[in-house]
Amino acid sequence: MKKIEGDYSKTIETERLILRKYNQDDFEMLYKNYVSDENVPKFCTWKPCKTKEEADKLLGSWYKGYENPEKLMWMIVEKSSNQGIGIIRVTHKWLEENKCEIGYSMGSRWWNKGYMTEAVTELVKYLTKEIGFFTIVAEEVAEDNIGSRRVLKKAGFSQYKSQDGKLYYKYNSKK
Ligand SMILES: CC(C)(COP(=O)(O)OP(=O)(O)OC[C@H]1O[C@@H](n2cnc3c(N)ncnc32)[C@H](O)[C@@H]1OP(=O)(O)O)[C@@H](O)C(=O)NCCC(=O)NCCS
Repeated sequence: MKKIEGDYSKTIETERLILRKYNQDDFEMLYKNYVSDENVPKFCTWKPCKTKEEADKLLGSWYKGYENPEKLMWMIVEKSSNQGIGIIRVTHKWLEENKCEIGYSMGSRWWNKGYMTEAVTELVKYLTKEIGFFTIVAEEVAEDNIGSRRVLKKAGFSQYKSQDGKLYYKYNSKK
């Protein structure tokens, strides 16, 4: 696989969603629908934003990722409402192994509608068939994050346990 140099966060459409890059104009809805939602980051590394200043700092720090061609990121847009409701991030860490890592989260008002399964399934096709990754991993998935584990399973990932007992999931396009 050749080194990532171009813009790989291209717009992807599914039945009910659009996955696209976000920009400053999306701030208000990402703040309202997503990063201020206290239910979202229970299993993530960030904290819910209590103020717009906090949200600006968080979303701004993620946005900087677009400057690095090895980081891909999409805002999840619900077609029916045209609202940005979450984010999926992919990090290309191990170039020589054609491997990347995926992470995702979404405002709790949109949970349990099959949205993340729909988004991840389509993204897996794009990452493997169009970009050419062989392997996609989801690291350190909490045992009690049943929703995320179901999403990964339904999108074709297999479950593994690392030596220190942590769950991780792997999708291999060369099955
Ligand atoms: C985890 C998360 C992404 C799931 O997204 P979602 O769009 O609600 O998932 P889906 O609707 O596609 O659900 C897939 C399956 O999981 C089930 N599910 C979803 N959330 C669940 C929950 N909290 N408990 C039990 N089952 C759940 C759904 O019912 C569905 O079941 P099915 O196989 O019978 O169809 C979403 O809850 C979220 O953003 N959580 C917070 C952030 C997070 O945990 N990110 C992942 C870190 S590893």
